[in-house]
Amino acid sequence: MTNNSANPRHFLDIAAVSQADLRLIIEDASRRKQLLPAGDKPLAGKMLAMIFDKPSTRTRVSFDVAMRQLGGETLFLSGAEMQLGRSETIADTARVLSRYVDAIMIRTTAHDRLLEMAEHATVPVINGLTDDTHPCQIMADLMTFEEKRGPVKGKVFAWTGDGNNVLASFAEASARFDFELRIATPEGSDLDGRYIDWARGEGASIVTTTDPVKAVSGADCVVTDTWVSMGREEQARGHNVFMPYQVNERLMANAKPEALFMHCLPAHRGEEVTDGVIDGPQSVVFDEAENRLHAQKAILAWCFGEAA
Ligand code: CP
Repeated sequence: MTNNSANPRHFLDIAAVSQADLRLIIEDASRRKQLLPAGDKPLAGKMLAMIFDKPSTRTRVSFDVAMRQLGGETLFLSGAEMQLGRSETIADTARVLSRYVDAIMIRTTAHDRLLEMAEHATVPVINGLTDDTHPCQIMADLMTFEEKRGPVKGKVFAWTGDGNNVLASFAEASARFDFELRIATPEGSDLDGRYIDWARGEGASIVTTTDPVKAVSGADCVVTDTWVSMGREEQARGHNVFMPYQVNERLMANAKPEALFMHCLPAHRGEEVTDGVIDGPQSVVFDEAENRLHAQKAILAWCFGEAA
């Protein structure tokens, strides 16, 4: 049973959703986490198509389990095995899928592919990661921080490493959730300035530097990610450039004693983070991974007007 609408409620980016709705999603995610394993089934009879142009463990499994726990079902679609963007336009694929399923989650390369899908689908479209942004990850990250340390408002998040798609969504979130973001990246690996400009325009406090110690000093949370993001594999040759940005025990010592360490995973141990940090008492990486499930249940519910 499809739920076609002229104005489906998409979850495409943090910047595209209001502060009130993002807060509602975080609160609904926390409520749904408490309901496990019971809870209501607001998506009974609904089908989510999950299109993956790129590999995934967490996103694929957490969306699949989320739909099942909400009473719905999923359809896994490999982008490589579809006509999508090759012998058929993305717009036409969006129109066709909208006749079969109730929502579409897509992990793809160029952000334009996501936007084209959303423009032409008549069911909700969710961004499961593009080369530009990863909003579902950030919802789980902020939920995790607030579980451990209370409201993110006024807190200091330090990012060290590559200026990638996860960081872009962090920058957007710093405006929506009112936390300070300090970014340390090597020259040439900066975050695309569009995200910083937008967030600052919305009143966000964002500091950029090439000095990881400066970024991490006094931070409430230290965040990093792989130095070789999907779609930016050419950076594999530049690991030595990133080495000073590794989150190790020495760098973490500059943060507040109660600071958390986050990483969206998968982690390249010994590169962007040491075993001592990722397995240490400040690390919450597996809570982050778990909260992908709860946050996405709330995102799915929100898309269908069921978040509360
Ligand atoms: N963090 C994240 O998106 O993980 P996957 O690539 O495994 O989905």
